[in-house]
Amino acid sequence: MQKIFLKNFRNIDEALIEFSDSVNIFYGQNAQGKTNLIEALYLCATGRSIRTNIEQEMIKFGSSIASVKLAFFNGETICVNFENAKKNIFVNGTQITKLGELLGKLPIVIFSPEDLQLIKSNPSARRKFMDTEICQINKFYYYKLKQYYRILHQRNAFLKNNPTVEMFDVWDNQLIEHGLKIINEREKFIQKINEQAAKIYSHITNANETLRVIYKPNVTSEDFATKIKKHRDYDIFNGSTSNGIHKDDLTFEINGKSAKIYGSQGQQKTVALTLKLAEINLIHEATSKFPVLLLDDILSELDESRRHFLIDYVKKFQVVLTCNNLENLIKKNLTAAKFFRVQCGKFFNGE
Ligand SMILES: Nc1ncnc2c1ncn2[C@@H]1O[C@H](COP(=O)(O)OP(=O)(O)OP(=O)(O)O)[C@@H](O)[C@H]1O
Ligand SMILES: [Mg+2]
Repeated sequence: MQKIFLKNFRNIDEALIEFSDSVNIFYGQNAQGKTNLIEALYLCATGRSIRTNIEQEMIKFGSSIASVKLAFFNGETICVNFENAKKNIFVNGTQITKLGELLGKLPIVIFSPEDLQLIKSNPSARRKFMDTEICQINKFYYYKLKQYYRILHQRNAFLKNNPTVEMFDVWDNQLIEHGLKIINEREKFIQKINEQAAKIYSHITNANETLRVIYKPNVTSEDFATKIKKHRDYDIFNGSTSNGIHKDDLTFEINGKSAKIYGSQGQQKTVALTLKLAEINLIHEATSKFPVLLLDDILSELDESRRHFLIDYVKKFQVVLTCNNLENLIKKNLTAAKFFRVQCGKFFNGE
């Protein structure tokens, strides 16, 4: 990406930011607009906010319109406009009707402090990790997931009204059909991420530790049909669907032991870091493009050696990195980076 133009986006009145194609560092005190910029980039990549489902929140207080326009070095553009509480997305000037059409246009890997909690947070965070990552490289998966969740919501909504056996049959067969395809894609993804992650993790830990990512599907092609049928009454009683891919999970093993149970905080963070870095290679393999890395306030969360590793690892990619202070580590190791000071929603070039 070459530049971004923002208007009335959060605390940013108006800004034009021209990126370097390598590392871009946005530094400044708290509450100045650094994460707002990251959010705008994420919006261009996915069509959604990273922080909220209420789109209105992204529009500057007191304003009714906002826009974000991103341009690539090859002249292509992505534009997101908010007007009268409605969001419109344009790719190269043509409005798109489905978010799926945006996928792959701006591949990103985003890494913020919450991501470091991935190992110990709840399964939904780990499913979200899988889904976000697979969607970027696999449109088929995105549409299957959408269909699956649409049917799941229907099924759940009707559970209170004593659905007939015929209704259950229709829903369950569709859940099984889409669900098995999703399981299959998740299996493939985990296998690939394992190959990359094992190498990276071994490198970070000087070959002292091994990492394994394990997919824990809630159902399999053998038992999905029997499980979902068997639990119909139970589901009516609970008002929700107790079996399916929406209950899948991941576990991580360091030297053969659960990282969630036995891992230190630092080890857990290192696993999360490794997964993100592994994702870069996966995206490149699948799309021949290198993703843009969005690193929001992440350095302060890592120890000295991991900070060094990360900076060294990412500097060959296009990176948008935010931080509070320009520590020596950054100044010394990222001499070719472009610096922006962020203050009150404004971006100033230079250190
Ligand atoms: N819709 C909005 N309109 C105007 N200002 C907003 C809006 N939404 C958020 N803000 C303001 O944006 C500021 C926060 O910006 P941001 O999260 O980008 O800070 P930051 O520079 O990342 O800070 P930190 O270092 O603490 O993470 C806050 O002061 C918040 O009040
Ligand atoms: Mg921030």
